[in-house]
Amino acid sequence: MSGTRSHFAEEIRPHQWKFAGNTVSSPNSIDIDTEKAYIVKALSHDINAQLMILEYSHQICAGIASETRNRRWDEAHEHVTACINGLKRFVSDMVSYAKTGGINMEPEKTSLQDVMEEVLYEQKHILERRSIETVISPALPHVFANRQRVKQILNNLIRNAALHGCDSLKPIITVTAECGVSEVFLNVCDNGVGIPAAVQEKVFEPGYRAPNSSNTEGSGIGLAIVRKIARYYGGDAVLTSDRISGTTFQVRLPMI
Ligand SMILES: Nc1ncnc2c1ncn2[C@@H]1O[C@H](COP(=O)(O)OP(=O)(O)O)[C@@H](O)[C@H]1O
Ligand SMILES: [Mg+2]
Repeated sequence: MSGTRSHFAEEIRPHQWKFAGNTVSSPNSIDIDTEKAYIVKALSHDINAQLMILEYSHQICAGIASETRNRRWDEAHEHVTACINGLKRFVSDMVSYAKTGGINMEPEKTSLQDVMEEVLYEQKHILERRSIETVISPALPHVFANRQRVKQILNNLIRNAALHGCDSLKPIITVTAECGVSEVFLNVCDNGVGIPAAVQEKVFEPGYRAPNSSNTEGSGIGLAIVRKIARYYGGDAVLTSDRISGTTFQVRLPMI
């Protein structure tokens, strides 16, 4: 690619995914990449330090409360532990990005079932708060993609379905998968208000948020990441949506 590169420029090395490759340097200017890498490293360091304190305090609380705790307490404790571990993995991605300009994409045998269970567990509070029923096909298959990246896909889609796609009286998220010859089609469906036809392609653009989401938090980057990860592995992410049946996101990934 010549001239200016887009923020999401395809700049892929084997098993590494580069977000942006712009290096601006001239005799009198700073190297933006080096500067960015430094800031990311410094931030990661500070976040890690805070995480360590959080983890330590969490362990102390666990010790103090050991006599009075009950099932709800145990669940909350487990949940905080899972979230701390999730945050650690994100920080590790940030450090890797700062060091090499890429994040680990190394494909591996990944169980969609296991990752889905983890995601539902971590997002339990959002789902419970909104009384969302989840219907997951038993024995979701395996795919050949980096586990952490697959988790990013599922996290984004489940969170989106819960936050943007569940306005109905009886909110339900359904997850199914179909196996093709060499690929898996994963479907995440909600029964919400749907996405207007005019913006169905735009929601995959980085930073775009449809008008239906003006009251919910978000940055508009999630679906762009989902599609980019799927395409990295030779797959794709697409959607079908209407006001009556809601929205289905379909992600295609290589089968192991
Ligand atoms: N399941 C869904 N139902 C309705 N709208 C959705 C759904 N998923 C995504 N969207 C729309 O697509 C937009 C982009 O999604 P995303 O990239 O994940 O960004 P964010 O969630 O941060 O807003 C959302 O702001 C929302 O308008
Ligand atoms: Mg989102």
